[in-house]
Order: sequence, then structure tokens, then C-alpha cells
Amino acid sequence: MVIDLRSDFVARPTPEMVAAMARAAELPGGFGPREDATVARLERLAADTLGLADALFCPTCTMANQIAIHLRCRPGEAFVTEAEAHVVTSESAAPAALSGAMPKLVPAKGGALAIAAVEAALTGADAQRARVGLVVMENTHVRSGGTVLGLEHMAAIAELARVAGVPVHLDGARLFNAACALGVAAAELAACADSVACNLNKGLGAPLGAILAGPADFIAEAVRIRQMFGGGWRPAGIPAAAGIVALESMVDRLADDHARARALADGLAALDGIDIDPETVESNIVLARPRGLTPDALAEALAGEGILALPFGPFLRLVSHHEIDDDAVEETLAAFRAVLSGEAP
Ligand SMILES: Cc1ncc(COP(=O)(O)O)c(C=O)c1O
Repeated sequence: MVIDLRSDFVARPTPEMVAAMARAAELPGGFGPREDATVARLERLAADTLGLADALFCPTCTMANQIAIHLRCRPGEAFVTEAEAHVVTSESAAPAALSGAMPKLVPAKGGALAIAAVEAALTGADAQRARVGLVVMENTHVRSGGTVLGLEHMAAIAELARVAGVPVHLDGARLFNAACALGVAAAELAACADSVACNLNKGLGAPLGAILAGPADFIAEAVRIRQMFGGGWRPAGIPAAAGIVALESMVDRLADDHARARALADGLAALDGIDIDPETVESNIVLARPRGLTPDALAEALAGEGILALPFGPFLRLVSHHEIDDDAVEETLAAFRAVLSGEAP
């Protein structure tokens, strides 16, 4: 059996999700974009869980983020974020292509935007500078290795934005991981934003789908933009049924994923040939820097042992999810040991 640690989205749906999807397949799907009863149940559950007025089921978190940017920024306007944000690095320049919006980048550490720089970016608009339509935060921060923005930090950014009259969007692809790491409810983090995007198919294990949540009038408009972006999926009750199981039964177990990511990091730190500080692992993502082997070469050798890890700049990325149990952690560490000691080819 291959152990796939490249991302959490590789995890397959649980048997409970498969059963829920089979039951949903028996139900009529509805016709209009918000008529499907299963989708409506998911959207209400997501809105209530996040403490926001309404929510919209979207195919991907990229689409949810881009709908938010489109609704907040007119062409020629800017959104404040940082250079390593997923909306900047990994969404195929969608803000420019779909909304005519450009990022206004501020310095950041581990995804946390520098407060003074955000303040400066939000004030002092004049005829030469783009008007700022949105602030985007990302929690957990994927390119820093799943680092977690604290509640106080998020509240401070939210307050600056509120004073400037600029809405905040939270790219919470892994929001529930962040909430778990902080020991707070996801709604407490969501309260620092006007709109929130989160994946159902990463740590929460659904086969696909994401949520965009926000005020009622924002979501009403989001339905139109989702259609414009090609995401007006119907019937969507079958994936929505898995999403309900994800929100109802997969949130509380995320602490196990975090403990296993930490166990992986602890085990890797003990090996010759890997640089890693286990203290930097704050959620379910491990970034391990190989010495003497390139990340590509190490990934290839590990693949030969049935372990899939992702070369990620100078690192190998390993992401825990519900299919990674304690045995998988041990097998992964054994494969690293075999490869690094030269026992395995
Ligand atoms: C922080 C962050 N935002 C957004 C996304 C996009 O998610 P999706 O693959 O559902 O479009 C990802 C995916 O990895 C992510 O890590």
C-alpha cells in the first residue's frame, strides 16, 4: 500500500461519506442553483459552524477565494496580502485575469501580515495609488508549512481594516486545522473576516468541494459570480452529502493529524541527512530539508519504498490526513532511514 503524504486532499472519503453520498443519490436534485435540499443543508451547517449569515458550496477553494476578490475589487483596485499567499502564488493569476485586481503585497512572517505595513497600505490613498478593496489573510498558511495565525494577530488586522472601511477575506483552506491548533472554534477565527473560504476535501476528507461564507447579500451575489466562473454545479447533492459528514464528524479528529505530523517531524529530526526543527510544525504540514540529496532525488527514492512526498523548494513536504495512522508514520520513518542510510536504492 502506497502511503501518500503529498497533500491532505489525496485522502479518500470515509465509508460514512460514501454511504451518505449513496443516500443522497436517491434524492431529487432540485433545479435552481439553491434548490437542492442536501446542498442547502450543507450550506446552513457551514454558515452556522462559521458563525456567518450564509454560505455557498463551491467546487474549489480557489473559486471561493476568487469569487470574494471579484465581489470586493473592481478592475484597477488592489487587495492587500503577502507574496506567499495562495491567492498570489497558486491561483494562476486569477485576480488579474478574472477581476482586473492586483495584489498589494506587504511583508509577512509565517503568513502573518506585518501590522504597520497593513496600516500603511490601507491609508494614504490618493489619485496615484490603487484603491484597496480587500485584505486577504490565509490561515493556516500553506507555503510556510501550515503555520497558524493567532487570534490576536487576526483581530488586529481585522480592526485596521474595519477602521479603513475595507472588508477582510480569510483564505481558510485549512481553517479547521488552524482552529484545532489554537484550541478555538473556527467561528472565532471567522469573526475576524467578512468572508471565509474553506476546503471540505483537505483535512476534513470529503472527496471534493469548498465553502464560501459571508453576509447574506454577499452570498446572494456570490451565486451569480460562481455561475460566471463556471461553478454553478447541478446536481451537487452527492458531494454535498459528503461535505456534511466532513463538517459533522471530521473536525474533532484533526488533533490526531497534528500529533502525527509532529511525530513525523520528531522522527525525521533524529535522522542524519534531514534538517528540521519539530517546533516549526504547527498543524498537519511538515517541511523537511534534505542534506546531501536534492528533494527530487529523495522523493524519488522514497517513492521506490512506497512513500509519496512532495518536493517543495528546498524541502520535502509531508502532509498528514485521516488515512495516515500511527503505522503509516512508522513506515514512513523506516523508509527515510533506509534511503538515507543507503540500505534502500
Ligand atoms: C491556502 C490555500 N488556499 C486555497 C487553496 C486552493 O484549494 P483548491 O485546491 O480547493 O482550489 C489551497 C490548496 O492547496 C490552499 O492551500
